[in-house]
Amino acid sequence: MKTLYSRIVITTICIMVLSSLIAFILSNVYYQFNLKPYNDQKITAMAYDIQEFYKQNPDIDVENYLVHIGKLGYQIYLVSEDGQGAFYGGEFRKKEIAPGIVQQVTHGETYHGVLNFSSNLFITGFFDNDLKNSIGVPIVIDGVNHALFLRPDVTVQFGEMRIFFSLILIISILLSIFHVGIITNYIVEPIVRLTDATKQISQGKYDLKLNVKRRDEIGQLADHFSHMAKGLEQLEQMRQEFVSNVSHEIQSPLASIQGFSQTLQTSEGLSSEQRQHYLSIIEDESRRMSQLSKQLLMLASLDKEEHILEKTTFDLSAQIKQVLSVTEWSWRSKDLAIDMELPSLFIYGDQQMLHQVWMNLITNAVKFTDAGGTISVRVSRHDDICKVEISDTGMGISKSDLPHIFNRFYKADSSRNRKETSTGLGLSIVKKIVDLHQGHIEVKSEPGKGTTFFVTLPII
Ligand SMILES: Nc1ncnc2c1ncn2[C@@H]1O[C@H](COP(=O)(O)OP(=O)(O)OP(=O)(O)O)[C@@H](O)[C@H]1O
Ligand SMILES: [Mg+2]
Repeated sequence: MKTLYSRIVITTICIMVLSSLIAFILSNVYYQFNLKPYNDQKITAMAYDIQEFYKQNPDIDVENYLVHIGKLGYQIYLVSEDGQGAFYGGEFRKKEIAPGIVQQVTHGETYHGVLNFSSNLFITGFFDNDLKNSIGVPIVIDGVNHALFLRPDVTVQFGEMRIFFSLILIISILLSIFHVGIITNYIVEPIVRLTDATKQISQGKYDLKLNVKRRDEIGQLADHFSHMAKGLEQLEQMRQEFVSNVSHEIQSPLASIQGFSQTLQTSEGLSSEQRQHYLSIIEDESRRMSQLSKQLLMLASLDKEEHILEKTTFDLSAQIKQVLSVTEWSWRSKDLAIDMELPSLFIYGDQQMLHQVWMNLITNAVKFTDAGGTISVRVSRHDDICKVEISDTGMGISKSDLPHIFNRFYKADSSRNRKETSTGLGLSIVKKIVDLHQGHIEVKSEPGKGTTFFVTLPII
């Protein structure tokens, strides 16, 4: 498997090699066009100096003189017109030179071998230790025409510089590879940790400690990743809670339906009253289950947020009055007084959904208020929002329950709720619907005194 680490290291090394190659080619081009003619001129000038010096001092020992110049860092080939030649200074690796060239030089021409040396395109031409890669000047020694070929002895003149530059090159290459290795590890390591973390998450382990303390993109990625893991953990917890709540809510009515139908089947001699009682319990419980499944379906569709609101303009107060009349039997049977202030107010919203909101808030008020209490319903308009206030003089909600009542399946007083057909989903559906309308819901409650729900909705 190609790891990210090896990919980065190999890519970087390739880039280094390629860049060096390009740099080498470019500097060679520069050498060919700028440095080579200059180099040729320099050596030619030196050759002329030698020629001139000998002209002015014809008495000196040529051999000795050339040996000395050789020691100064030059390679010399002195050849007479009849082909007698001798080398001085550093040795040439290739010693051949065309007799024609020798002849031309002995006849007085200057040979520009450095300028014309065809050593491909490379700077190595400069270092090519070839007799042809030299400058030739004519020189007359003891009346005989000679040709003097000269080139700098690079091993003497640049020897230590070559070692110096090679060392720089090798050390920087080695150090670069070493540092690329370390830096790549620094980049890749958090990614490896993140990969391990994803594996853990897929196995259901959400408690992650990534320990990535970086502020760059990878640090941000790790941060977001931790947030995501926490979110997933919460989601998973919610899911498990939800499933266990649903199972519990289904289990208890099913158990009582089973129990009572068995009793009906097995017990003989039941009075018709008893029989009627059991059957009504079975009916209640099945109604409860049907209510539960309706509410669950509602929540699922609201959760998907695919539910596009079917908005129309309608009279909110008329809708609330209708809910009050539908529920009349329940508040009348408890002898509850209804105090209402419902001036006509048209709003633009999903009529069916908002119907459920008032239905749940009013049935809650009825459910949690003892006989003889009062339920007040008020609608008012404030600029472009409307406020609906539903209050009761019932049992109230304790401070510790208050933050949770909009949670799914939350029932504050379970002993009381058990008697009622109650799932604890009503307020969570209410909140979802109000949120979908860009509205707001608040609750104020004092245990023993009563509860007020405030719903604000935009009119348009
Ligand atoms: N007006 C109220 N007075 C006192 N307690 C309330 C009132 N409204 C809601 N509650 C508390 O909040 C809980 C959640 O209410 P919610 O409407 O979500 O569920 P529910 O009425 O118990 O069941 P469902 O509406 O699903 O049949 C209730 O069980 C109750 O304890
Ligand atoms: Mg309710």
